[in-house]
Amino acid sequence: MQKLLAKWTLFGGVLAMVAISAIGLTIIALQERWVLLFSLYFLLGIVVVLQIMSLNKMRQYFSILHHEQRMSYRQLDSLLSLHHFLDLQSPLPPMREWAISPDFGSLLVSQIHQHRPAFVLETGSGVSTLVMGYALKKVGTGNLLSLEHDVKYYQISSESLAQHCLGDVATVAYAPLEEHVVQGRPVIWYATESLKGIPPIDMLVVDGPGAKDLGRYPALPILSRFLSKDAVIILDDAKFDSVRAVVDLWQSELHFGETRFIDNEKGAIILTRKREVVSSESGV
Ligand SMILES: C[S@@+](CC[C@H](N)C(=O)[O-])C[C@H]1O[C@@H](n2cnc3c(N)ncnc32)[C@H](O)[C@@H]1O
Repeated sequence: MQKLLAKWTLFGGVLAMVAISAIGLTIIALQERWVLLFSLYFLLGIVVVLQIMSLNKMRQYFSILHHEQRMSYRQLDSLLSLHHFLDLQSPLPPMREWAISPDFGSLLVSQIHQHRPAFVLETGSGVSTLVMGYALKKVGTGNLLSLEHDVKYYQISSESLAQHCLGDVATVAYAPLEEHVVQGRPVIWYATESLKGIPPIDMLVVDGPGAKDLGRYPALPILSRFLSKDAVIILDDAKFDSVRAVVDLWQSELHFGETRFIDNEKGAIILTRKREVVSSESGV
């Protein structure tokens, strides 16, 4: 961005100087002074407009930079508190991008502390699985099952859990994506074999599959009958329109209770139950 601005400013300046010189010399040669004056003012105007455009772009750039700096500080702050709070046995894998951001990790830890869930179900394994595993271990109660559709990330997450000595509180289940029918719609979501015999879900963390389109919509219709009475549902990536659209659909079709938006790096939504969710049509 900086390079682009510098190039743009330099290009505008050089272009204006070349044009001024060329026209000026031609007009001097023709000895038409009023034309010279008019042309110089005209070119000066072009230079001023170009510079204003550059300054405007620079202002936008610095405002983005300022936002990024504030967000980076916030992530660092959350990362430090995670490291301080969780008794890590091994370094955590990198966060942000595909993985959760540290501020979402802090949110998960504080929700686990607040609700002390006996059973947590997650969709989309990774750093979040480790963070929640540590948090459950720290509060001394509860287990976690994470569904993972990609065999590569299933292996990575399973190995990470062993490396962090969290095998006694957290498990990753390989659940490839397959067709389901929910609310009369054909959808693609995790295979549900691994859900057989699970205890009631006290906390559901939705961070998979991909956030595009309505890929996370089936989570609630399919899992509604597994949720405990006071279940809490936490969604990552709520700054994606598609994820907010999923929550709107849930609210209109399933009349799920309170919705709270958390304005963290990727946006999060916390849903708490107000009344019974309409049962699913999926044949789990
Ligand atoms: C949003 S990610 C889940 C992230 C996870 N909760 C975490 O904290 O790391 C959703 C899915 O993307 C896949 N995934 C994870 N890391 C990825 C990467 N670096 N590139 C592409 N896909 C990835 C995995 O299959 C994962 O279940």
